[in-house]
Amino acid sequence: MKHFQFPTIRLAAVLIASLGTSTLAQENTGPSTNIAWTIETLNLLRSGDPERGATLNLDLECATCHGATGVSANDTWPSLSGQPAGYTYKILRDYRDQKLSGTQRGELMAYVVEEMTDQDMVDLASYYAQNKLPPARQTFMHDAVESLDLLGDPERLIPPCSVCHGKNGKGDFPDFPALAGQSPEYLTRSMMDFKAGRRGNDVYSRMRLISARLTDEEIQALANYFASISLSTSNE
Ligand code: HEC
Ligand code: HEC
Repeated sequence: MKHFQFPTIRLAAVLIASLGTSTLAQENTGPSTNIAWTIETLNLLRSGDPERGATLNLDLECATCHGATGVSANDTWPSLSGQPAGYTYKILRDYRDQKLSGTQRGELMAYVVEEMTDQDMVDLASYYAQNKLPPARQTFMHDAVESLDLLGDPERLIPPCSVCHGKNGKGDFPDFPALAGQSPEYLTRSMMDFKAGRRGNDVYSRMRLISARLTDEEIQALANYFASISLSTSNE
């Protein structure tokens, strides 16, 4: 399907996505992402200029939806502040490379990032990364799903979330996203997208496999759990 890059096809894709259908699932049959953590990619990341990123966040109107410092104003749009820069850069590239065209809102972001250069992306990524993680969205009784975060469920071959996402969902280098304080509806939606195979930009299918083993109720509870964690006082 790679050669179908004509504007009309893209426009059709945007229109279909905006109608709310997700039937475009996995039209992209290539690798899950074009990003590899080569020396070049790491050097590009290191060149990120957070001051220019702050300006771009306003000029490109990212702030309208994701907030002036990357803390989203509602429960459905994701926050970006405190995310590892590598993750933000990777997913912006994935949107531009049409790797998330199967998700309901992926086309929106694909449209937003269409004209952006790699340097714009790393500058924005370094700006969000230097800001604190978002504060807790809500309160939630942790007990039921905390063990999935800390211990996983070996019987169902579910590894602990913390192995990759870091302690308390703080995120990890280079591209393990932070989950702490994230918008709960976004967390649920992204796990449901992985589970249904609509989102397939995770290298080695790690999140597709894990989400498929979780019940819908566990996904909901995990989303509430991570949304209720506050690490906003530190950036460790
Ligand atoms: C009209 C609102 C809107 C605007 C403007 C917008 N975004 Fe988004 N963005 C979204 C939504 C909605 C999602 C979630 C998509 C999904 O559910 O897959 C998202 C997702 C993202 C993600 C992925 C978050 C994650 O945790 O995986 C990043 C990074 C991002 N946007 C960056 C940007 C940047 C940078 C800009 C400006 C160039 C921007 N966005 C402009 C609405 C917007
Ligand atoms: C083996 C490593 C690994 C484990 C274990 C893991 N994840 Fe992930 N997860 C990832 C990676 C890598 C991504 C980013 C995928 C990408 O590149 O977009 C991710 C993405 C996510 C996202 C989407 C975040 C966003 O901002 O879009 C959610 C939500 C998530 N994981 C939840 C969980 C939960 C809950 C658990 C535990 C039940 C878990 N993960 C266990 C590696 C892992």
